[in-house]
Amino acid sequence: MTKTKKIAILPGDGIGKEVVAEGVRVLETLREVRGYPLELVHFDLGADRYLRDGITFPDDARGVMEHECDAILLGALGDPRVPSNVHARDILFGLRFGLDLYCNVRPVICLHDRLMPLKGRTSKDCNFVVFRENTEGIYVSIGGHFKKGTPDEIAINEDINTRKGVERICRAAFDYAVAHGRRRMHVVDKSNAMAQAHELWKRCFFEIAREYPQIESRHQFVDAFCMNVVRDPSQFDVVVTCNLFGDIITDLGAALQGGLGMAASMNARPHGVALFEPVHGSAPDIAGKGLANPLATVLTIGMMMTRLGFTGEEQRLTEIVRASIEAGICTRDVGGTAGTREVGEFVCARIRG
Ligand code: NAD
Ligand code: IPM
Ligand code: MN
Repeated sequence: MTKTKKIAILPGDGIGKEVVAEGVRVLETLREVRGYPLELVHFDLGADRYLRDGITFPDDARGVMEHECDAILLGALGDPRVPSNVHARDILFGLRFGLDLYCNVRPVICLHDRLMPLKGRTSKDCNFVVFRENTEGIYVSIGGHFKKGTPDEIAINEDINTRKGVERICRAAFDYAVAHGRRRMHVVDKSNAMAQAHELWKRCFFEIAREYPQIESRHQFVDAFCMNVVRDPSQFDVVVTCNLFGDIITDLGAALQGGLGMAASMNARPHGVALFEPVHGSAPDIAGKGLANPLATVLTIGMMMTRLGFTGEEQRLTEIVRASIEAGICTRDVGGTAGTREVGEFVCARIRG
């Protein structure tokens, strides 16, 4: 019998709570209908907890996630009542950096022609996967202020790029391409301006590319990528890039998928617990109104099912998401009139068959 898979549930803030509530229903339905041995462990972490007792990301919670869980489902973090964003950084980076989840895998796949915003293109033209480096770059928070609050103020954030870090994300992207029958790989950087840090990226990428002669390896500067991905997304298959550019280009990518409500992600390393989250944030502008699109979370759970070894489930969930768009039983951001709950119900009903 398959060992029970323990999944940590962190709804977080804003619409994170609403989409994860539907995600939990989806997981419970999968457990019931398919008999998957899933155990859900709920964590009260986020802005409410921080405002209540000053706690952001306690060691015991982290320990349970690292040593006892197989997967973590996170909604989103960020709340206007916490302008410093300290709880969000502690939790999100505590997981990504603390668990060394160096691969942030973000598929940019448009599932339905109706969602394709580009004139003269169909959904078939947008099907690539971004490998975002997830433990280095400008995100490491090495830096400081000098003369803060004075007219001579200096603020510094260092951009850290290590050979080890660049090499392992490039290798992961190439291995993924080989395993999934993807034929072309792009490294996206700014090596023309960042003559040291991104020279390392470009050099390291093409060195590793030699080990994968079956993959066509190419380079694009990030500014050109932004132009080209809008002009013709079909030229991209797998893209590997640094932490900051990966963040930015996957919001751009989300727009090609039908919006942030459709973009899924996994944060992982080869072994151990992995973190799954929709690409979007806590969306304070629509929070608490039942307007949030839960389909990114459903697709994210699909990625989780693959990671946990429940093969075929990701494809089935993807088809259900496509059917929700096709039937118009979806939220207004993707052209429907349904509420978050109703979309969740549609997904669960389809799982039941
Ligand atoms: P956002 O992704 O929360 O929202 C951007 C826009 O997209 C908003 O108009 C929002 O209504 C819309 N949107 C996002 N997700 C949607 C969904 N599922 N359904 C329908 N519409 C959706 O980005 P933001 O407004 O820049 O950030 C809000 C907060 O979220 C900030 O505190 C930010 O730091 C945080 N954030 C957290 C994460 C995360 O936890 N992984 C990711 C991104 C942003
Ligand atoms: C994301 C988010 C985060 C990031 C923020 C909330 C720090 O935008 O997951 O895409 O920049 O990584
Ligand atoms: Mn982002």
